[in-house]
Amino acid sequence: MHTQVAIIGAGPSGLLLGQLLQRAGISNVILERQTPSYVLSRIRAGVLEQGMVELLRKAGVHQRMDAEGLVHDGFELALGGRRVHIDLKGLTGGRTVMIYGQTEVTRDLMAAREAVGATTLYEARNVQVHDPKGEHPWLTYEHDGQAHRLDCDFIAGCDGFHGVARQSIPADALEIFERVYPFGWLGILADTPPVNEELVYATHERGFALCSMRSATRTRYYVQVDANEKAEDWSDERFWNELKARLPQELADKLVTGPSIEKSIAPLRSFVVEPMQYGRLFLVGDAAHIVPPTGAKGLNLAASDVSTLFDILLKVYREGRTDLLARYSQICLRRVWKAERFSWWMTSMLHRFPGADAFSQRIAATELDYFVGSEAGRQTIAENYVGLPYEAVDPLPTPELQVPAHCA
Ligand code: APR
Ligand code: PHB
Repeated sequence: MHTQVAIIGAGPSGLLLGQLLQRAGISNVILERQTPSYVLSRIRAGVLEQGMVELLRKAGVHQRMDAEGLVHDGFELALGGRRVHIDLKGLTGGRTVMIYGQTEVTRDLMAAREAVGATTLYEARNVQVHDPKGEHPWLTYEHDGQAHRLDCDFIAGCDGFHGVARQSIPADALEIFERVYPFGWLGILADTPPVNEELVYATHERGFALCSMRSATRTRYYVQVDANEKAEDWSDERFWNELKARLPQELADKLVTGPSIEKSIAPLRSFVVEPMQYGRLFLVGDAAHIVPPTGAKGLNLAASDVSTLFDILLKVYREGRTDLLARYSQICLRRVWKAERFSWWMTSMLHRFPGADAFSQRIAATELDYFVGSEAGRQTIAENYVGLPYEAVDPLPTPELQVPAHCA
């Protein structure tokens, strides 16, 4: 089989890239290790930056998001008992975020792909990358008990943190930057009304907590827990009590509890690999970088990588601009590192670090107090939260400064 772009992984990165390419008439095949229902069973974040919302519209998968997603103009920080409103819209000249779960984005992308008849091979085993440095790379894989080969022009490694794409690049061609945090997030999903109209990020002596939502009737709440905690040791009652203990009193009093539909612990990690490309193999999304969830950036970074790779491939196929291919990693990494910084900062400010001395705790509390007490500080938080702009892959050259004749 031959295709123009071979995509490994049918998470949001692979599906969104596939959809954009398909609409532009560029053929692509997705190889996914899991079943569709397994992919949809993973509960992930649900805050979409405006850039991602616009990209989903460009991909033609916006109808349900526009009908059911919740546009949020701001969020709240709860610092001990004090509540601070971050007015995203007012502080960023009108930008907002969309609350729409990653599972729903994935479901919409899967449906769109099926509707156009593009090929996704689920339960593709033992995917291997061959000759990524050559002009004609290819993949091998097993499907329905048979060995297959997929020839292509380019390979997009959209296979997440544990995927094969990054691992098929020689270790000495990559530099890895990593920080593992000494705590995790215990999250539950429940069919209860949200405690607040907007998301609440809470910091408290007992640790961080987050009140999020999927809709007007479904909530997602998190509490910071030690890295070695087990979800089985947390009954629903224990979870709700811990959450209430970390929220300002008026929110704790309003919190509606109920049985959890899902409960799991996620570790927190910052990770970046450089460069994000090796010959004709491009790493996209979680395959290249991980952020702790505190800034709601993971899914959004995947979208900006997809946008960059798509724009480059479009110019390669339409205009023969193969020179742009070499720019992919640099363009992505500039934005990736800014989101890494913001996610690290939010994580550092809002969590309790085990063993942190009294001085570090005072500095963190004061830094937060300073930021929220200043318009410039709130603006910095807001512009990062709504998402920094996407960089053009081929910026227009700055016109030569024209000096009017009478000034020369
Ligand atoms: N072969 C084929 N598919 C694979 C392989 C492999 N060897 N390894 C992993 N995959 C598949 C996974 O099963 C998964 O469906 O690749 C997909 C990767 O999807 P995600 O992990 O969701 O990564 P990505 O698409 O980059 O999504 C962005 O950013 O912060 C996160 O929550 C956010 O999950 C979201 C991610
Ligand atoms: C979520 O709704 O799951 C969520 C929201 C915001 C975050 C992280 C997770 O920062």
